[in-house]
Amino acid sequence: MSEPTTTTTTTAPAAIATIASLSRHEGQTVTLRGWLYNLRASGKLLFPIFRDGTGTIQGIVPKAAVPEEVFNTLKELTLESSLTVTGKVRADARAPSGYELDVENVEVLQRVPEETPFPITLKEHGVDFLMEHRHLWLRTPRQSAILRVRATIMRAAAEYFDINGFIRTDPPILTPNACEGTSELFEMDYFDDDKAYLTQSGQLYIEATALALGKVYSFGPTFRAEKSKTRRHLTEFWMVEPEVAFLELDGLLDLAEAYITHIVTTVLAHHRADLKVIGKDVTKLEAVIAPDGGLASDTNPTPGSAPEPSAISPLLSSRSEAEGSAVVAPNKFPRLSYDEAHAMLEKAYAEGKIEAPHKYGDDFGSPDETYISSQFSKPVMIHRYPAAIKAFYMQPDPTDPTKALCVDVLAPEGYGEIIGGSQRVDSYDLLKSRIEAHNLPLDAFQWYLDLRKYGSVPHAGFGMGIERVVAWICGLDHVRETIPFARTLNRIYP
Ligand code: 4AD
Ligand code: MG
Repeated sequence: MSEPTTTTTTTAPAAIATIASLSRHEGQTVTLRGWLYNLRASGKLLFPIFRDGTGTIQGIVPKAAVPEEVFNTLKELTLESSLTVTGKVRADARAPSGYELDVENVEVLQRVPEETPFPITLKEHGVDFLMEHRHLWLRTPRQSAILRVRATIMRAAAEYFDINGFIRTDPPILTPNACEGTSELFEMDYFDDDKAYLTQSGQLYIEATALALGKVYSFGPTFRAEKSKTRRHLTEFWMVEPEVAFLELDGLLDLAEAYITHIVTTVLAHHRADLKVIGKDVTKLEAVIAPDGGLASDTNPTPGSAPEPSAISPLLSSRSEAEGSAVVAPNKFPRLSYDEAHAMLEKAYAEGKIEAPHKYGDDFGSPDETYISSQFSKPVMIHRYPAAIKAFYMQPDPTDPTKALCVDVLAPEGYGEIIGGSQRVDSYDLLKSRIEAHNLPLDAFQWYLDLRKYGSVPHAGFGMGIERVVAWICGLDHVRETIPFARTLNRIYP
């Protein structure tokens, strides 16, 4: 065993740091591990920009201040070469990150050969080229920022339910039959003669777990073989779905409102710098969580529906107590019935504000949704659509059975539907006749009918598409940038 008899006189190696944590290292010499993102040279001065996954920082390299080989190595270095760089952290108010690095040393791990340069440069590339190189495009600051925001949205989306007593019960991905209708299912062979389908929603299964556990949620990938080539549709996307026993439509709206508020609040608390890189106007997000939203609180709730004490608010207040704040800020999203939304569109058409009239009884088209959401600064909750255009499992409105007790939540700024949900049919006989009327195979739904046979209760839930929320919160005009590797009608590579 060697004994520590001598005291070392060499300086300790610089601490390894990340770009995101540089505020804790101001004035210190640190080592960053990452890649060369960009390089500008101006005579005897080099300005390399390094990235390490947590952010980017500009280095300053005066020829006179560093050993010659360090200067020459950096001067000739190719973009996206991997490296470690050591330097002193200096605050600089003009720098986007607030800091610059006075480079002292650099070690190259792998130098990208000149003959095969990194294909993505600062010049404009077409979307097809970028999607073809998605595995590399992800490295650019804006795309990285989007993925960081996405991760926080997913964390907040689970966290809200975890804090509020929901039990996570994930449904199967391989299913024997459809939930929302058969046309959009990916089909596969399931051993011998059987077929299986990739899930398009876990809802039916979590209705079962809700009746076992009370309040549940699921969070996972879902699949839709939609032949739609729109800015809002992926064939594989992530959906988070709560389902609650003894919850009715009004309570469901309260839940959706508190839920979205929590997610936006969390993103604003952690990602202002990322949202700046992405180019999102954060005042639009601040308006969503502001206690009063101008127009938003002016809208009347459904005529005849007394404001029910929410099934969620007791949980919310105990949570805010735990977090030390005394009251839950009132944050009312506008609630419009389908009929009220239709009337709003009729008026807009008469005033020449939208191009095509909305036909009563039809779903809202994209321009309709954009117009409605443009009237408010907060998400808009549209409830009680005609039952005829909604799914078989939705509970009819007792005051007008031609309407379903359902809700679509439209994101602000024209980003379209982010949440779809409803109260569920709780009568065995009604559900059975609905299944038959929709020509669905009764035997496949026997287990689902059982839930109405053994202690049926009113229950409700919704599904929120993560990618739609990321598109809205980041201000992206297409969902393909909201997920690491988008799956669309025309693309399954890389
Ligand atoms: O409105 P949807 O179809 O509702 C359901 O699937 C219900 N079973 C959910 C429930 O009540 N538990 O889908 C829910 C949400 C939409 O509001 C949208 O945000 C997202 O899922 N979504 C998609 N996102 C990306 N690409 C697609 N093709 C999507 N289809 C739906
Ligand atoms: Mg929907």
